[in-house]
Amino acid sequence: SYVDKGGHKYFMAKEMAEQPSAIGDTLAEYLREGAQGVVLPSEIDFSTVTRITMVACGTAYFACLTAKYWFEQLARLPVEVDIASEFRYREPPMPDGSLAIFVSQSGETADTLAALRYVAAQGVRIASVVNVPESSIARESDVVLPTRAGVEIGVASTKAFTCQLTVLAALAVKAATDRATLSPEALAETLAALRAVPGVVNQALLVTSDIAGVAAEIAKAQDVLFLGRGAMFPLALEGALKLKEISYIHAEGYASGELKHGPIALIDPNVPVVVFAPMDRLFDKTVSNMQEVMARGGKVLLVSDAEGLERASDGVWKWIKMPKVPPVFAPIAYAVPAQLLAYHTAVAKGTDVDQPRNLAKSVTVE
Ligand code: G6P
Repeated sequence: SYVDKGGHKYFMAKEMAEQPSAIGDTLAEYLREGAQGVVLPSEIDFSTVTRITMVACGTAYFACLTAKYWFEQLARLPVEVDIASEFRYREPPMPDGSLAIFVSQSGETADTLAALRYVAAQGVRIASVVNVPESSIARESDVVLPTRAGVEIGVASTKAFTCQLTVLAALAVKAATDRATLSPEALAETLAALRAVPGVVNQALLVTSDIAGVAAEIAKAQDVLFLGRGAMFPLALEGALKLKEISYIHAEGYASGELKHGPIALIDPNVPVVVFAPMDRLFDKTVSNMQEVMARGGKVLLVSDAEGLERASDGVWKWIKMPKVPPVFAPIAYAVPAQLLAYHTAVAKGTDVDQPRNLAKSVTVE
């Protein structure tokens, strides 16, 4: 099908803007009209699953790392997450009761497909979260869980990532339902948070559309650190990946609590530190790490909601104000400023946003 930029300067801009509808379309696959709760193919009943193994590459791997927090917290299910190129040669044992989940936009990534074939040979049940339903990974899976992101052209994945997160969030809610790990009230609240995701992402796009000025400052840096705690840690990794992919600025994501185990040695006024800190139960911990950065002359860009900024923006270098979002699925909303920051930084530097040097959209060779 013919795809154009729809008035946007780059496909990446168009694809970021499409997220509310792409996520809405994706969610409609799992929250069916008239049905109670999340609907999945009957092959997946989490009451018989004792462990989940998730495998992917790149941005899809960070979607898996995020989902680990959700499956563990909501459904009390142990989750192992691995990079496909490591998993395939490590040949890990797969205990009975395992469910393997492969996540891939293209469904053609060579290492992910090889990892899937290894798991298939062990007789383990395989579900895949893919954006291309006729792909190799989809064809070789027992259950296909589609994302409805539509065609993604930009090499740096945006809408495919938030749609992957959405499917995995729905899966975690279904797992919590099957395993009865949440009270009826908590389950209803979590389902409401899931239903709210497209609207919340839309709000995040509106509220953070104006960060070109902050990005122009980031564009002057040679190194940038991203920090987050809990499910914001994988987002810190994804924020760093997005920035390095399209702006060529060296960036690293770290768990906030690891700061003093290394990265704090890098802190100086030339290294901006981006902190993802929604107002949640870990907020004060993240803020205390942020203050350690500021006490050493570091420049902090704080990404938080009105309440968080009110409590902690004293002395920060810059801030991005986010809407208030239900904490459980906050990583999906906070992906938006992570993407926009990378995008506007790349635009400020004049790099090829959609076709960054040396990168391929789909890595079909090892
Ligand atoms: C490449 C792309 C990334 C993507 C990764 C995995 O590196 O540039 O954006 O996250 O492959 O691709 P997949 O199609 O398996 O999600």
